[in-house]
Amino acid sequence: MTPEITCRRVTVEEILPLRHRILRAGLPFETASFDGDHDANARHYAVISDARPVCCLSLVPSEWEGRPAWQLRGMATDGQQQGRGLGRRLLEMAVAEARRDEPHRIFWCNARTSAIGFYEKLGWRVMSEPFDVLTAGPHVRMVLEHDGQRRGGGTETAARRPPAVAFIAAELTFLAAAHFLGGPPWVVLGVLAFAGQVAAEFRLRPLIGFLPAAGWMVAHQLTGNRELFFPYAMALAAHLASQFVGRGRVAAAVAGGLVVAAFLGIRILQAATAKVLAVELAVAAAILIVTVAVLPAAVKRPWEAVAVTLLASLAAYAGLAV
Ligand SMILES: CC(C)(COP(=O)(O)OP(=O)(O)OC[C@H]1O[C@@H](n2cnc3c(N)ncnc32)[C@H](O)[C@@H]1OP(=O)(O)O)[C@@H](O)C(=O)NCCC(=O)NCCS
Repeated sequence: MTPEITCRRVTVEEILPLRHRILRAGLPFETASFDGDHDANARHYAVISDARPVCCLSLVPSEWEGRPAWQLRGMATDGQQQGRGLGRRLLEMAVAEARRDEPHRIFWCNARTSAIGFYEKLGWRVMSEPFDVLTAGPHVRMVLEHDGQRRGGGTETAARRPPAVAFIAAELTFLAAAHFLGGPPWVVLGVLAFAGQVAAEFRLRPLIGFLPAAGWMVAHQLTGNRELFFPYAMALAAHLASQFVGRGRVAAAVAGGLVVAAFLGIRILQAATAKVLAVELAVAAAILIVTVAVLPAAVKRPWEAVAVTLLASLAAYAGLAV
């Protein structure tokens, strides 16, 4: 029989064993208690299955840049139950309840870098470079705001502002390389991909996803094989899809599809025959569909997104044989 599952407010004592097991394994039990746990206004939530907590979180009253906020702490799902939607369900419930009671408060947390994708799927944004927490490894600071709060609240500190200069330098380097190693059509797709990257996430780290495309530029320069424009385009399409997959598969498909459309437009200008165009369209669509299908399960870490991008472009290279 399927166990009954409920989400409800609990006492911190009820969730300490789960916190300890998932977040502080191997450390003394006391390390599972956090500052603010016993604050009169702190809220603790759990998903209960078979009468025991299998997912938990806590909201502790706090401040974010001088504004009232909740700090999310102790987000954990039992190992056996991870990936089944419990974390999403509990966090959405806790946020909705807290917003209903106090709409002006924003939410922030110190998130393990391995969990960034989870929070991003729920609308949280990374606000810092990674930093180490002694008991729990690398973290970043993330926030969840209402749209209105985001628009009105342009108060990011210099440390949290995207490293615009480094980003633009990386972009210009990539586009210059595209110009010299590929040519104008390669630059056009590069510009489109970078515009998409800015729309998805204006941060340096995701730029490693451009490496497979850079590899195809170099291969083109070394071999003189103009057909490598196709795997280059698919590397950019897959990368862009991976950047938007947190907003859903449709967004990922549209982002990747725009690059494919631009690629086909360029191919028309290059006077590709209808037959060649039809084959390129079919291969590109098949690659994009598979890429978008596997992405949600495969992009928990940045290098996984790069691997998917590389595989998609290798598939395009194999598709050249068609
Ligand atoms: C991170 C954690 C709390 C997520 O809870 P969960 O119950 O497994 O998450 P869900 O099943 O509700 O996942 C919701 C979505 O996030 C995705 N997701 C879950 N964990 C992810 C991760 N680490 N990275 C990227 N995406 C992730 C899921 O694929 C799912 O996507 P979908 O809605 O598109 O299918 C849980 O995996 C966990 O306890 N991890 C170990 C402890 C930890 O890192 N806690 C966070 C401390 S900051």
